[in-house]
Amino acid sequence: MIYPIVVYGNPVLKKKAKDIEQESFDVKKLVEDMFETMYAASGVGLAAPQIGKSIRLFIVDGSPMDGEDGEEAMEDFKKVFINPEIIEEAGEEWDFEEGCLSIPNIREDVSRQEEVTIRYLDENWEEHTETFTGLKARIIQHEYDHIEGVLFTDHLTSFKKRLLKGKLGNISKGKVTAGYKLAFTKK
Ligand code: NI
Repeated sequence: MIYPIVVYGNPVLKKKAKDIEQESFDVKKLVEDMFETMYAASGVGLAAPQIGKSIRLFIVDGSPMDGEDGEEAMEDFKKVFINPEIIEEAGEEWDFEEGCLSIPNIREDVSRQEEVTIRYLDENWEEHTETFTGLKARIIQHEYDHIEGVLFTDHLTSFKKRLLKGKLGNISKGKVTAGYKLAFTKK
């Protein structure tokens, strides 16, 4: 099942999401639907708040970005993160032009640290603690932000935010199109 993607302006994107309890619902089915939704929108990451669910779950599949990061292979980077907690971010900050399925047609440089260590459960409820660098870290940091109620535009300077104000306003008013289904906030 493909979910419509919630866009900028919906309060669910600004909310800190809640941990999932193991037996509370069929996580595997939801994860399957999220992958279907993400692939339909040609994304490399999708967090549950983007389909209107305020729970700590996100998925990634970096394979469309394979080759963009020099030596780093992305084709094996398909993962599910349940109830994740970032343990540590380390390294130099670097800029990369980010986009977001919830903020169609806007891309901006965002500065983030190059390494992230994260503890999470996978879809089989097994715990992992792993360290990622480069684009993998970048995708995880972006998706993790979503479950903390943070969008990439929140990282921009106030000058940049002012420049984007009109475009973001239009998105929240539903004046936007994308190559995938969007869910607009009912007024
Ligand atoms: Ni995003």
